[in-house]
Amino acid sequence: MRLTRFAALALTGLLAAPLAPAAAAPGPGSPTAGDPYYPGYGNGGYDVRHYAIDLAYDVPSGHLAGDTTVRARASRGLSRFNLDLELRPRRAWVDGVPASWSRQGREVTVVPVEPLRRGQVFDVRLTYAGVPGDKGRGYLGGWTETRDGGFAAGEPEAATLWFPSNDHPVDKARYDVRVTTDATKDVVSNGTLVSREDLGDGLATSHWRTRDPMTTYLATVAIGDYEIREGTSPGGTPYVFAINEHLGRAVRTSATRSVARTPDIIDFYSRIFGAYPFETSGGIVVRPPIGFALENQTRPIYPGQFFTYGRNVGVIAHELAHQWFGDSVSLRRWHDTWLNEGFATWSASLWAAHDGGAGLTRQFRRNVRLMDRTDGWRTKVEPAPRGDIFDGAVYRRGGLTLQALRNRVGATTQERILRTWATRHRYGHGTTAAFVRLAERVSGADLGPFFRAWLHTPREPAHTRANGFPRSMR
Ligand code: ARG
Ligand code: ZN
Repeated sequence: MRLTRFAALALTGLLAAPLAPAAAAPGPGSPTAGDPYYPGYGNGGYDVRHYAIDLAYDVPSGHLAGDTTVRARASRGLSRFNLDLELRPRRAWVDGVPASWSRQGREVTVVPVEPLRRGQVFDVRLTYAGVPGDKGRGYLGGWTETRDGGFAAGEPEAATLWFPSNDHPVDKARYDVRVTTDATKDVVSNGTLVSREDLGDGLATSHWRTRDPMTTYLATVAIGDYEIREGTSPGGTPYVFAINEHLGRAVRTSATRSVARTPDIIDFYSRIFGAYPFETSGGIVVRPPIGFALENQTRPIYPGQFFTYGRNVGVIAHELAHQWFGDSVSLRRWHDTWLNEGFATWSASLWAAHDGGAGLTRQFRRNVRLMDRTDGWRTKVEPAPRGDIFDGAVYRRGGLTLQALRNRVGATTQERILRTWATRHRYGHGTTAAFVRLAERVSGADLGPFFRAWLHTPREPAHTRANGFPRSMR
């Protein structure tokens, strides 16, 4: 089509005339970020810079009233554009002027009175309300309502249950989150607490701010009865821990002891992967057994169930590794989950080896045996299985891939690859292809066949043996 048009223009001698006016005509923004696995996620036509999220949360009913202003830059002329939200919008404004809107499923289309120019920075404000907790999606997470409050945790997404957004990791932004709720409740979000103001009438507003760019699924807020502990790591990073007070005593104790290792783990990783990317750290331990922990930026969420059998530092080491791999360096496409999960799995084994656990080689062999036993080799690491981007094989085989790489290029070079990756793509994005290129550049080795066998082939790589782990040794 474009070629035909180009040819026609050339023929009529108009080629010298600027094509710009036609190209700049405002049009509708795309309703998708173009992720083949989740076409409903995210939108096109603009780039978010900042979310100012204002929530009023009623604990007894679980009702949430939101007032969010999204500051974005139009990447094309826009006659209308979409935001992702599953709560019911009430009113919309663009740059303070009332705008019309409509909603279909999770797509909210906003139509500004005046089209937006390409490059224009604009504020879209939406008020909305609903009970997000009744839209929980089970295993995928979302908004979980509790007797003492509620919290947001879900991957690949949860944002649509509490604020309108461009809901895909490609579009990072900064956040201010303000929550007004029962003054007896604690409110914990990402980043740093800016203020907490008592409004009288039994209400208080807490205001949290993130300094660094963050993707939507990593944004969280937890409202409830929490024991808050604050401090600073030996390396100088402040932390905020929040442990739910309604957990049983034994679980609370083992959870507290486990998250207490956070400063040490962060300082350890900083030596290997480069400086911790964020201004603050910590963690939130929630009561409902949601079935997963999540690497929410600066403040991972751990359900108490992870600490039922005592201390569990492994999960802490896993979610903290994500601060580098997943949070700072984020996915461009969801089928690349191994860049998050494989990296976090391997990093946690590095920490375990450092912290007096089994050595990397022994852990490698154990995981190879587990792959055999679970028939995991049939699963490709990348693309991750469409039906479950969090398939156990993505974690285990993804982690094994990094250990096999270490065996192949040596520990020093493998660590330099990981550090360069974390540094070069800090606050940005990565893809499998970019990682393979970087690994080859740093190591000077041709790693094409290696990564093809480890990542993209649905059977056991010959390299498990070639790298010094014959079957007889398993
Ligand atoms: N990234 C999480 C982890 O570190 C996994 C979350 C899985 N998502 C889910 N909704 N269950 O393990
Ligand atoms: Zn993970």
